[in-house]
Amino acid sequence: MNITVCVGCGSKESKEVIDTLEHLVSLHELTDKIDLDEASCLGVCTEGVSVKLDEEIYTITPSTTKDFFEEEVLSRSE
Ligand code: FES
Repeated sequence: MNITVCVGCGSKESKEVIDTLEHLVSLHELTDKIDLDEASCLGVCTEGVSVKLDEEIYTITPSTTKDFFEEEVLSRSE
């Protein structure tokens, strides 16, 4: 599974999202199943941070990153 985080969407928030995702991936021992990448723009600039999960794009923020991970990522990794 690939997760690509846009670092062009407000770099401070993007950094927090990446740090949280890295932490959650390692906490759930999914480092061999999930590739975490960065992109400079995913072409869907919004108020939050754009994140591409496989071919789908989501808009998240640092405070919704954990919910995104639990609802979208964990369900696909089983
Ligand atoms: S700058 Fe993040 S999607 Fe464009």
